[in-house]
Amino acid sequence: MAWSKQRLEETIKERLGGSKLLIVANREPYIHVYEGNEIRCMRPASGLTTALDPVMRACGGTWIAHGSGNADRAVVDEFDRVGVPDERAEYTLRRVWLTKGEEQGYYYGFSNEALWPLCHVVYKRPQFDSEDWLQYRRVNRKFADAVLEEVGEGPAVVFVQDYHFALLPRMLKEARPDIVIAQFWHIPWPNREVFRVCPWQDEILDGMLGNDLLAFHIQYHCNNYLDTIDRTLEAKVDMEHFAVTRGGHTTMVRPFPISIDPEAVASCLPSNLEEVERRLRKTWGIKNERILVGVDRVDYTKGIPERFAAVDRLLTNHPEWKAKICFVQIGAPSRTHIPSYRQLNDDLRAQVEEINWRHGQNSWRPIIFLNEHHNSQQIHAVNRIATVGVVSSLHDGMNLVAKEFVAARTDRQGVLVLSRFTGAARELLDAILINPYAIDDFAEGLHLALSMPPEEQELRMSRMQQQIADNNVYRWAGMLLSEASKLIHVQQSVGELA
Ligand code: F6P
Repeated sequence: MAWSKQRLEETIKERLGGSKLLIVANREPYIHVYEGNEIRCMRPASGLTTALDPVMRACGGTWIAHGSGNADRAVVDEFDRVGVPDERAEYTLRRVWLTKGEEQGYYYGFSNEALWPLCHVVYKRPQFDSEDWLQYRRVNRKFADAVLEEVGEGPAVVFVQDYHFALLPRMLKEARPDIVIAQFWHIPWPNREVFRVCPWQDEILDGMLGNDLLAFHIQYHCNNYLDTIDRTLEAKVDMEHFAVTRGGHTTMVRPFPISIDPEAVASCLPSNLEEVERRLRKTWGIKNERILVGVDRVDYTKGIPERFAAVDRLLTNHPEWKAKICFVQIGAPSRTHIPSYRQLNDDLRAQVEEINWRHGQNSWRPIIFLNEHHNSQQIHAVNRIATVGVVSSLHDGMNLVAKEFVAARTDRQGVLVLSRFTGAARELLDAILINPYAIDDFAEGLHLALSMPPEEQELRMSRMQQQIADNNVYRWAGMLLSEASKLIHVQQSVGELA
C-alpha cells in the first residue's frame, strides 16, 4: 500500500501511543512579517520545512524553532506558541527567541560559516571562531530548555533536525534518559580527514551520540560518520549493525533519503496554466524560446556559477540554440548577512550581465536571473512550463528541488539535468547526470536534454515519478519515526533505572 498522509497519521498514532511528538529545527515552517501595518504569513525557501510541514500536518505535535520574523512575537500566546498553518491549527509552533549576538554566533557563525562548509566539502574554508562556538553551545542549551518545557513529565519522541543542533541530543538525554531522541542530519557528512580539522570535534560527536537514532540521507554519509567516530572518540563502533555504543548508551545510525509530497506539488499547479505561461513569458520578455529552469537558495554549494558557465559554453559550442532557449534562474537570496553569500549574489548578477552581453541578440537574453523569493505556486508553475530542469549542486545531502521538478510534470514531459553529487542522483536514475565542475560535459548534458524526443522524455519522467510516488515524504517519516518508536519502551526502562 502506498504511503499517504492518512497512513502516516494512523501509523504514528499507533506507534507513538501516548508519547508526544516534538520536532526541533532552527527554521520555522511559517514566518510572520509586517507588510505596512498588516501581518503576512510567509513560507521560507527551505527543503527542510517543505518536507516536514506535511509530516507535522499529518501527525500533529509541536515544532520548536527560532522565531525569526519581525511579526512573530505579535501572534504568539503567553507561552510563545501559535497554531499553524492558520486558524485550523493542525499543529503547534513554539518559538524560541534569540538575541542578535546569539543569532550571529550560532546561526550565521558556527552553523553556517563552520559546519556548513565543513560538511559540504566545496573548497570553501570553514571559519572556526571561539565566540561563535560559545553562542552555538548557548543556543543549543536554550533550545534544550524549551524542548524540556514542551515535553513536560510524560513520554515523548523528540525529532531533532540538522547541523544547528549537534549538542542538543546529549543535553536532552542527560536531562531525560527516558525520552526517545532521533536526529536527521539534512546535509552530507564528510570523511574523517575533512572533519578532523574542527577544533570542537569531540564535543560535537559526543553531542550527536545523545541520540537513540541518527539518520542521514544515504549510506555513504552514515559510513563517513561511523568512521569519524571510530577515529576520534572512545566508543564501540559496530559496523555490522551500524551502531555506536558510548558510556553504556547505543545510537543507531541509518540512512533515510528524504522526499516530498508529489501530490501536493501537482495540486498546487494553476488550473489556467496556459494563461499563466503567457503572463510569465510576457513579464520576462520570452517569446517562443524553450525554457530551462533552476530553483535554488543562492548558496555557493548549489553550483549556480557553474550552471551559468554551462549555458555560456552551450551557446558557444552549439550556436544553433541561440535565440531558441532561455535559462530562468529563480535564486532566493539566503544568509546574506554572511559576506560570502552577499558576494555570491553580486557575482552572479555580474556573470549573467556578461553572458547576456556576449550572446544576446536584439531583445533576446540567454539568462534571466530572478534574484528574489518566489512562493511555491510560482515555482511549481515555472517547473511545469520549462523544457529542462537543472540542479547542479557541487555537493548536497538530497536536493529536493530535483524531486519537485519531476512532481510538477503532470504532462510527463521535461528533462531533469542533475548533479551526480546530490543524494537525489542515487534515486532519480533517469535524469541526465552531470559533473557540475566539468563545464564541457555539463553543456553537452544540456544539449542532450534539449534534443531529447518527447517519447523518451515521457518514459524517463514516468519512471522518476513512480520512484517519488513510492518513496514520498510520508514513507520517509513513517519509516524513520517507526524505527525511533521501537525504542520507546527501551528508553522508558532505562529512565526508570537511572
Ligand atoms: O537542508 C539544509 C538547510 O540548512 C536546512 O536546515 C534549512 O532549512 C535550509 O537548508 C535553508 O537554509 P536556512 O534555514 O539557513 O535559510
